[in-house]
Amino acid sequence: MSTEDRIVVKGGKKLEGDVTVGGSKNAAVAIICASAMVKGKVFLENVPRITDIQVLLETLKQIGASVQWTGDKTVEVDATGVNSPICDNPDLSTLRGSYYFVGSLLGRFRQAKVVFPGGCNFAPRPIDQHVYAFETLGASVETTGGYITAKTKKLVGNSIYFDNYSVGATINSILTATLAEGTTTIENANREPHVVDVANFLNMMGADIKGAGTNAIRIKGVKELTGGRSYSICPDMIEAGTLMIAAAATKGTVTLHNVMPEHMDALSMKLTEMGVTVEAMDDSITVKANVKRVKNTNIKTMPYPGFPTDLHPQFATLLSVADGESRITEGVFPTRFQYVEQLQKLGANIQLSGESAIIKGVPKLIGAPVLPTDLRAAAAMVIAGLMAEGQTTIYNLEYLDRGYEDFIKKLQSLKAVIERGK
Ligand code: EPU
Repeated sequence: MSTEDRIVVKGGKKLEGDVTVGGSKNAAVAIICASAMVKGKVFLENVPRITDIQVLLETLKQIGASVQWTGDKTVEVDATGVNSPICDNPDLSTLRGSYYFVGSLLGRFRQAKVVFPGGCNFAPRPIDQHVYAFETLGASVETTGGYITAKTKKLVGNSIYFDNYSVGATINSILTATLAEGTTTIENANREPHVVDVANFLNMMGADIKGAGTNAIRIKGVKELTGGRSYSICPDMIEAGTLMIAAAATKGTVTLHNVMPEHMDALSMKLTEMGVTVEAMDDSITVKANVKRVKNTNIKTMPYPGFPTDLHPQFATLLSVADGESRITEGVFPTRFQYVEQLQKLGANIQLSGESAIIKGVPKLIGAPVLPTDLRAAAAMVIAGLMAEGQTTIYNLEYLDRGYEDFIKKLQSLKAVIERGK
């Protein structure tokens, strides 16, 4: 008998009830790194308790910040005492967002040395656009020996023009430019809600950032950021989307609270097209899937406000039982198809063709053991297990733990038959 952690799901039960979505992982990872730039206390609310966040908070402590969980979802950070631009916590290599320490510490100390980021390995994930931005603002950058090292005597605002859309490079440019001298403009900036959240956080601490949420951002550098304020991290649109898809996949009725319905438009429109009812209120969404079988559809993932790549594997799982043939084209990470092999184990009929998956809907999936190899693929396997006949066992839980807070408890509260154990 293996003693490995696993999730066991007995499929076929409709999800029913209410659930509260947590704070955005991808906003929180950036905001926690950004808090290293602030002299004074920062009170963060709606912080997700996931391993990526624990690693970043631990790193903040190692470089001299005081960090305290003051409630279930609230963290107090005081980075006044940060005295080192070196982040050598080896765990930083398990996540992507660790590269935000480069932007924040370069701003504060004019130098930074940070363990090279890792994160989900579903595609090559170059950092050339980050390096270009740091260099454009005056830093010299090296990416050798397992670290990103950046340093400069003078950080000066400049024009940044990205060759391709990058969430991470957009955020890193904002972080670095905030404490640079003069004005920086960013063209071809990403517009994701978490980009806006980082800008809002920094502005609240004294930064001067305009245009976040559009493709052109202007940052007037300031001398310092001061704390003493609270900031509530925006709801996680990917967790919300995952739960919406799970509701539709089990033909259930679920109301999600703590969501921004406008962030969910791409998914809501696709679900509606497939015959699922989606009702948006102020900060909640109800998904009702009163259908025998969802209709087929096509999607292409794109930067926000396009269909999010981080919902691709979960949505493919729903399409695997749609009535007809669907196509998913990956427009952000051309090789993000590692989930396909796992979904095929449950009987899905999916063929790959270049940057697309052609999904021929089958009447049902049949439970099986699965070993997902990245975060969103792991969430997709949970959804697959919830809708499959019989039992599905999901291994490799470290991926799920990186990005979903209390996922199993939340699904249990929606009446799913799901357990985590050895
Ligand atoms: N890219 C480059 N050069 C760069 C940076 C990116 O060519 O310097 C390319 C990438 O290879 C990719 C595209 O640009 O093809 C977009 O990548 P992006 O930089 O936007 O992704 P990221 O910042 O590394 C964040 C999220 C990912 C999410 C993507 C896209 C964080 C910590 N990660 O990654 O989240 O998939 O944006 O929205 O914010 C996840 O949460 O599961 C996850 C993988």
